[in-house]
Amino acid sequence: MRKLFISATAIFWLAVAGFWLTSFFLPAEPPPAISPVVEPADKSYTLAEVAGHGREDDCWMVINGQVYDITSYLPDHPSNPELILPWCGKEATQAWQTKGKGRPHSSRADQLLVEYRIGKLNEAR
Ligand code: HEM
Repeated sequence: MRKLFISATAIFWLAVAGFWLTSFFLPAEPPPAISPVVEPADKSYTLAEVAGHGREDDCWMVINGQVYDITSYLPDHPSNPELILPWCGKEATQAWQTKGKGRPHSSRADQLLVEYRIGKLNEAR
């Protein structure tokens, strides 16, 4: 009985060691296929697509050839909403550069704007 136990234990551990050693000779797992990640900033939109986001609760703008989704910023914008809302869904570069009254936005506003960039304008389509 004791012999049987010892040989069964030995066989078990030999099998474990065998599997473990075999694993070194198996071909390495192929790396997972990496799907090309399209950064939001690489996306491009047509003016027609931007025009589909011309509402207060879904507001995109084109400024200097870049597309921004500023929906979440709108409630924080310091001006009277009537000044900014008409530019939702539109090419708003001039409005951005003049704030509608001839004065440019500050560099702080420039930095803020970057956070809302979702892509660029596709002028070809
Ligand atoms: C394109 C349409 C826009 C118009 C017509 C517009 C207009 C204005 C006006 C009238 C003011 C307030 C009063 C003033 O400073 O003279 C203002 C201030 C400001 N706006 Fe806009 N704005 C626009 C878009 C934006 C966007 C997209 C952002 C940022 C995501 C932004 C950020 C700011 C900030 C931070 C201020 C405070 C003053 C400054 O830093 O220049 N605005 N804007």
